[in-house]
Amino acid sequence: MATTLISGGTVVTATGRSEADVLVDGEKIVGVLTPGSVLLGSDLSRAVDTVIDAKGKYVIPGGVDAHTHMELPFGGTAASDTFETGTRAAAWGGTTTIIDFAVQTYGERVMDGLAAWHDKARGNCAIDYAFHQIIGDVNADSLQAMDGLLDEGISSYKLFMAYPGVFYSDDAQILRAMQKSAEHGLMTMMHAENGPAIDVLVEQLLAKGKTDPYYHGVARAWQMEEEATHRAIMLANLTGAPLYVVHVSAKQAVEQLAAARDVGQNVFGETCPQYLYLSLEEQLGGASDEWGAFEGAKWVCSTPLRSKAEGHQAHMWQSLRTNDIQMVSTDHCPFCMKGQKDLGLSDFSKIPNGIGSVEHRMDLLYQGVVDGQISLERWVEITSTTPARMFGLYGRKGVIAPGADADIVVYDPNGHTSIGLPVDGNGKSHHMNMDYSAWEGFEIDGHVDTVLSRGKVVVHDNQYLGAKGDGRFVKRGLSQYLI
Ligand code: URP
Ligand code: ZN
Ligand code: ZN
Repeated sequence: MATTLISGGTVVTATGRSEADVLVDGEKIVGVLTPGSVLLGSDLSRAVDTVIDAKGKYVIPGGVDAHTHMELPFGGTAASDTFETGTRAAAWGGTTTIIDFAVQTYGERVMDGLAAWHDKARGNCAIDYAFHQIIGDVNADSLQAMDGLLDEGISSYKLFMAYPGVFYSDDAQILRAMQKSAEHGLMTMMHAENGPAIDVLVEQLLAKGKTDPYYHGVARAWQMEEEATHRAIMLANLTGAPLYVVHVSAKQAVEQLAAARDVGQNVFGETCPQYLYLSLEEQLGGASDEWGAFEGAKWVCSTPLRSKAEGHQAHMWQSLRTNDIQMVSTDHCPFCMKGQKDLGLSDFSKIPNGIGSVEHRMDLLYQGVVDGQISLERWVEITSTTPARMFGLYGRKGVIAPGADADIVVYDPNGHTSIGLPVDGNGKSHHMNMDYSAWEGFEIDGHVDTVLSRGKVVVHDNQYLGAKGDGRFVKRGLSQYLI
């Protein structure tokens, strides 16, 4: 087995930082050596095969992005990143594990949907991957299939209170699924927006000729998110199901989560980089020479970008500091402008929903450290350690400690990352399969220097050294936040 020493860096974990060398043997971390420490059971007199100089850099556990949608069929098209392109882009950005959503569509059997997702991912991924299960059709057969999810290494499933006629579940279906999940300890992941009410507003806006992307944000008002979040919390309370609300963007929804947590309910929330940096006014309401007011389509996602003036963005950062929101995932769901987003040129409701960010999450959140929004340790916690714990991966992922997988990022705080348009060749400024960047113009005061995925150096010095198929499916256990 090849050995690697990551030498002279500052190891940052969720609980602190120390000057230490990290010793990797094969796929595992075998030692974290602070100056003067002795590594029991390891023969350091044996020369290591590779030394990575991390002087002046941070050594952190690889990022865990718990919310991606590679190849997701949506709005008459499919997310433009395949498992191959999306996981490679993730690796470039210091994410070494994704948890993608296997889909059961309406009328399909859950286990057939899961098998199809394995077929898409198997042999194609650059980094390790796991699955949540979308239950898009809660019926007797699906409820029975939930009995077998844990054996498949899937300890969480997603329901939608939005998208009537597509993935939508009504309250009766949600109640039944939550009863089943409470039985097994499965985490219910909820897309909390009142879909039927949103659809009425969409219809009324379109009837008035309000067809621009901006109105996507108007129709999906924060009241729709607050109400659905509250309803999900109450149904979880009744059934005893643990609840994790995905892509939280409204400050009122955070308040619902915080109130439930304050009285001891096992509920959690994630937010995404777009809700920390982008807004209804600036992006959804933006215009360009190329696209006019349709420019905003680049940022059509659900839940939508919120008004900065209303204070949602500032509240999200605050909630990350206070742990009212526990972690940050991307909800990576990319579509190209040409041939995909432009399906909605004359009707915002036909724009496929989603933003591509899987490559940029570690950088964008590091910028939060530079800007004084979060601490260095909290950066590691919300991007790696908590996602691993939340979804039953901790110990293997999310930590730098002996026995863990050697998923490690050497991050250079003196480096710089300019996010821009995809261009061909080595000058490529992002690696996702998109014809634009939702993050064009963002300048990051830091840079991913080296990425190890289970001990293999996959990114170093702006070069990709990995290969399709490096990544393996990881079976997950129950959430480590359950008692
Ligand atoms: O806009 C989004 N979020 N697209 C992906 C599907 C979902 O709801 O997560
Ligand atoms: Zn969703
Ligand atoms: Zn999503």
